[in-house]
Amino acid sequence: MHSFIPKNIIKKILEQVNIINIVKTYIQLKKKGNKYYALCPFHNENHASFFVNEEKQYFYCFGCNTHGNSIDFLMKYNQITFIESIYELSKITNIKIQNKEQNIEYIQYTKKQKIYNFTKKTSKLYHKNLQLNHSYQAKKYLKKRNINNNMIQKFYIGFSYKYWYMKIIKEDKNYFNHLIDIKIIKKTTYGYYDYFENRIIFPIINQFGDITGFGGRSIHKQLPKYINSSKNETFNKGYQLYGINYLEKNKKKKYILVVEGYFDVISLTQHEIKNVVSPLGTMITQYQIKTIFQFTNQIIFCYDGDDAGKKAAWRTIKIIISYLDDTKSIKFIFLTNGEDPDSIIHKEGKKKFEQRIKKSIHIFDVLIKFLFPIKILSCIEKTMQMINKAIPLINKIPSEYKKNFLKKKIGYIIGINDTKQLEKILFEIKKPKKNPHHISLNNIRTLISLIIQNPDLIKIIPYPINDLKISKIEGLSLFIQIFQLCQKYKNINTGQILELYRNKKNKNNIYKLSCWENMIDKKKIKYVFIDLIEKMYKKILDNRYHQLMWNYRFKKINLKQKKMLWKIHIILSM
Ligand code: UTP
Ligand code: MN
Repeated sequence: MHSFIPKNIIKKILEQVNIINIVKTYIQLKKKGNKYYALCPFHNENHASFFVNEEKQYFYCFGCNTHGNSIDFLMKYNQITFIESIYELSKITNIKIQNKEQNIEYIQYTKKQKIYNFTKKTSKLYHKNLQLNHSYQAKKYLKKRNINNNMIQKFYIGFSYKYWYMKIIKEDKNYFNHLIDIKIIKKTTYGYYDYFENRIIFPIINQFGDITGFGGRSIHKQLPKYINSSKNETFNKGYQLYGINYLEKNKKKKYILVVEGYFDVISLTQHEIKNVVSPLGTMITQYQIKTIFQFTNQIIFCYDGDDAGKKAAWRTIKIIISYLDDTKSIKFIFLTNGEDPDSIIHKEGKKKFEQRIKKSIHIFDVLIKFLFPIKILSCIEKTMQMINKAIPLINKIPSEYKKNFLKKKIGYIIGINDTKQLEKILFEIKKPKKNPHHISLNNIRTLISLIIQNPDLIKIIPYPINDLKISKIEGLSLFIQIFQLCQKYKNINTGQILELYRNKKNKNNIYKLSCWENMIDKKKIKYVFIDLIEKMYKKILDNRYHQLMWNYRFKKINLKQKKMLWKIHIILSM
């Protein structure tokens, strides 16, 4: 039973209540050691077999097996409901619960129920419509699509013929307004029309059996081919799974088949292929994946055999791979181009389709086929590119065992059987050290002394030095500071620089470096300076590049960082 009381309130109540005090108000408890016991109030007995455990806040009867916490005790003893029991306890603990009527969850719940009732009514009318003469073209269409009557009944298929709602306008204004509210009927300057007009209607039902919305397929080639209900309190395309209401409850399925469309679900069902659902297209969402995994540990995707289907498979792999723990399995069936499950099941029937299910391809093999087709393997650069694509996916796999399995498999495919080498490529992309390329303090010192002694040198610096601020190399910030001073005060000389540092903390360093003897031939100062700058610049960028690349592979980087990565890549490859 769903409660309308927030879970945290229940938790709080159970934290504050003591089961001993609760039980004591109703029956006489005896204490022996740290155990409390009594004659069981729930069955007739002569010897006490009813125990209450204070530490665990739990009661248990060895005689009749009745057990539970404080909430259960009150429910059973007073024969009240869960909600009533919580209200009782809230009084004892002085924890306030809003009135049912003020409770947001409750208000939303009733609002949804109201919509479901109307939607159910609408669905019934659409379904009835299909049987009427007005709908003969729809029936003809369904026949052409090989959908039999049983399926029309089972899936409650309907039709929206023109002006079917005319009677309702007169007879049930309230209901008609609701149809406008949920955007099934639209009002225009010319009058009313049904959003689903001239379309076959598929009611979309959730796992609890409520009709959340509709899908409509045009029968006269008008576009779009399919439309869905507008988003509202009960309908959101990314949350729906067409067919989910036909899965048996309380029993984990061996697999669930995921297909693209309505007709795929219906036709497969007609041929007794069970456990099929559709996310209404190819854009499966995290929510839909989580829901399907409530019912099974194995998902088999059977997308259409066209390019869109392949793209969908790749997109699906990228999302679903992070669900691949030790218990779960993900497979794919690929149909030949131009086919979909609906067309193929009518052509080849149940047995052959079951063979396809049996032969479905494991997600790893699909991934490898996509990333490492034979034609790229002869090109090491392309292979490396693909490895870079594979690594973030591999790292999303929660099962360590499966992760390693995939790495080995990729190693085998790209021809690196030597585990040590493979480790290097796939396993051990270690976080780079903060300063792997050591830039000696001596070099920085030389740079600072040269610039203080020859401020004109800033004019020949070929790199955007300010970009280097991110680096924490000792002395670098001082160098940049002096560089900026030289930029700000054009034609500044050494004495002026010293003046600017008079009362500053770096005064002594600056002073020393201003008369530092570099032993560099005057004519060569320019070249030495440029050479040192270039080395430092590239080293810093190289470090930054490795750091970003590591984050890119194993963590996340934002767009700015991506651009930076690209910029550095270009500079370094110049
Ligand atoms: P498909 O275009 O593959 O259609 O879309 P289909 O299911 O094979 O349709 P038929 O056999 O031609 O009738 C697959 C699913 O994507 C959603 C629908 O749920 C459809 O069943 N879809 C498709 C839309 O929501 N809107 C569209 O315009 C197209
Ligand atoms: Mn189809």
